[in-house]
Amino acid sequence: MTPRKIIIDTDPGQDDAVAILLALASPEEIEVLGITAVAGNVPLALTERNARIVCELAGRRDVKVFAGCDRPLARPLVTAEHVHGKTGLDGPPMAEPTMPLQAQHGVDFIIETLRREAPGTVTLCPLGPLTNVATAFERAPDVIGRVAQIVLMGGAYFEVGNITPAAEFNIFVDPEAAKIVFGAGVPLTVMPLDVTHKALTTRERIDAFRAMGSTVGDHVAAWTDFFERFDMEKYGSEGAPLHDPCVIAFLIRPELFTGRLINVEIETASELTLGMTVADWWGITNRPRNAKFMGEIAAEGFYALLAERLARL
Ligand code: BDR
Ligand code: CA
Repeated sequence: MTPRKIIIDTDPGQDDAVAILLALASPEEIEVLGITAVAGNVPLALTERNARIVCELAGRRDVKVFAGCDRPLARPLVTAEHVHGKTGLDGPPMAEPTMPLQAQHGVDFIIETLRREAPGTVTLCPLGPLTNVATAFERAPDVIGRVAQIVLMGGAYFEVGNITPAAEFNIFVDPEAAKIVFGAGVPLTVMPLDVTHKALTTRERIDAFRAMGSTVGDHVAAWTDFFERFDMEKYGSEGAPLHDPCVIAFLIRPELFTGRLINVEIETASELTLGMTVADWWGITNRPRNAKFMGEIAAEGFYALLAERLARL
């Protein structure tokens, strides 16, 4: 099987970090063409740094990491240090990365890659606010039709919101960008909170990372330990959702997920419900079906995949 070519667009974030590790640990299925950082969980200077830390941790100093947009299209940046800590990757002690940041802007890399590779061969995997992808589509509309598909983490329907009562963080931070991406006509698969809140860590699942006896296993265990305190306090849940790795797991094992092809629109006007993903789950409207909106995950299989793959690093 030829590996699928992907660009990971990300704002690490502990769960982004695990997603990147999962992709780098799965070369039979996935070829990471590059990683583009975006401002989100923490400002851009930290997300691009964190992306390089994760590549170095995986022993992959050769991966190209780019800095993209440092703020949303039309609004001030909202960050999530209350979830991810001051650095975005709080948990284990970490040294500053030494691998270089690419000189090219992340948006230019996305555009250039889509123009260079054969049409329909590059999958975009956004794990943060959609600013970089939307900017690429606005600046170079010719690349839109060349994207194979977009698989992203963002939004919610039954779970509604995590950053506001109505909105999920990635969509809320840059709703204008989300509107552009959801309206672009590219085949789109969405991993909303409805799925990721079913992919919870447990003591046993975190211990399995630690039991790997590797630097990667120790880091992932320490990150998930740190990350889970927030959701446990907020939701009273057993553990924390590993949101972003769901995107990569879908590329490797799509059968772990089920969902529906539905219409999803983004709220950009209302102050009260800004960034809400208005998902026509029940087919109430005649609006075009623009997104495969996932609803269920086989969590045991998902964590088994993570344990199997991360043990390779
Ligand atoms: C999303 O927001 C970020 O905090 C996580 O990394 C994830 O991408 C969940 O709402
Ligand atoms: Ca993220």
